[in-house]
Amino acid sequence: MKLWGGRFSGETDEEFARFNSSFAFDRRLIQADIQASRAHAEALAAVGVLKPHELERIDEALIAISRRARTEPDYMDGQSAEDVHSFVEAEMVAFIGDLGYKLHTGRSRNDQVATDLRIFLRDEIDSLLKAVKILQLSLVSLADANQSCVIPGYTHMQRAQPILFPHYLLAYYEMLRRDCGRLIDARGRVNRLPLGSGALAGSGFALDRAMLAERLGFDGVCENSVDAVSDRDFVIEFIGAASIVMVHLSRLAEDFIMYSTAEFAFIELSDAVSTGSSLMPQKKNPDSLELIRGKAGRVFGHHAAMLAVMKGLPLAYNKDMQEDKEALFDTIDTVTISLRVLATVLGNVKVNAARAREAAAVGYLNATDLADYLVRRGLEFRHAHDLVGRVVTYAIGKEKKLEELSPDEYRSFSELISEDVYDSLALESSLSAKSADGGTSPDRVREALIRAKLELAMA
Ligand code: ARG
Repeated sequence: MKLWGGRFSGETDEEFARFNSSFAFDRRLIQADIQASRAHAEALAAVGVLKPHELERIDEALIAISRRARTEPDYMDGQSAEDVHSFVEAEMVAFIGDLGYKLHTGRSRNDQVATDLRIFLRDEIDSLLKAVKILQLSLVSLADANQSCVIPGYTHMQRAQPILFPHYLLAYYEMLRRDCGRLIDARGRVNRLPLGSGALAGSGFALDRAMLAERLGFDGVCENSVDAVSDRDFVIEFIGAASIVMVHLSRLAEDFIMYSTAEFAFIELSDAVSTGSSLMPQKKNPDSLELIRGKAGRVFGHHAAMLAVMKGLPLAYNKDMQEDKEALFDTIDTVTISLRVLATVLGNVKVNAARAREAAAVGYLNATDLADYLVRRGLEFRHAHDLVGRVVTYAIGKEKKLEELSPDEYRSFSELISEDVYDSLALESSLSAKSADGGTSPDRVREALIRAKLELAMA
């Protein structure tokens, strides 16, 4: 029986029915839908709408449907339901007869779908947080295994200053930490109960919404029934936070794509996450990372789509909002697999520390250290900067590194430079000089690694 047939005399156009149906994708909400329905049945019983034995039968039916959905892979295949809500109702009626029709008392699909979505999403956020943690763990293990590896740090894609590879990796650890914070924050706003709001005006029955919230693990209720059924800001916010995760993953992907080229050759990706070319036999392509980079665009698209769907929608519920599901589901799936694949990439990458160190030693990455040396000798930084600029130009002309210039050559630039300058120019001193909190000195990086490990162990 249709959920809304009574007022209609004409048939629904077949193509429109397919267009209108969300069951092909919202069937994914079935467990959340049943969980919410069981609580709703209890609330109805508490106000006397359902007798105790009716509640019991409805509950049994819901449990049976839940079990079938979990254990029979093709249970929901080929069903022509309008959506998951009508499917569950039809199944219930098939089980227990007309009693099943009582469950929709004091409820609308509008508060129902908002409730389902929030139950579903908060659990998905919890899973996503675990996937982020696993990626953080891979970053930390890779950092741990390469504690003394030095790479050139870049700005503007030009070699800038040497940094420890673990320091570089922990930069991503920090980004992911903030991502977790954003997801946890968003979860707090997701975890409010819409059920009991009816279609928009509130339930026609005095349901105990606080009890419903508690029973369903919500932190509280949505305070306004119109708002509860009509907003999807929690979906937009989640996809926004997920988009930022993808920004971070795509940047790491891009770095590693570059670092794995013959031009850089700092790392080699494992065969397990690379592909070959159908034409060029020598190729080993970083498809795993390229796809992660590409999938970021897909998630941003879902974010833009949800903003556009919601913009200018009159209150309260509108069917436009059915569009939220595919955007949300695909975001969850895409971010999850991206996190997992990236963790596999990191877990199997080979680091060519010798090559990376060599790159960090060529290209005047210690020029700033020379300027800092002069500052310690009393020269104003701006003048030191200018002087070192001239030294670098001179050295480029001579095709020498800074540490290859002679004491005489240095003296011709400044009396302030003496033989101990070579200590400052060494790669190791360049690193250890960056000892302020958050810097790349080996001590600071070791501490940062310990902090990260502790944090992950406590999470
Ligand atoms: N499938 C619908 C959705 O996803 C459920 C809510 C339908 N509500 C309605 N008034 N037609 O939004």
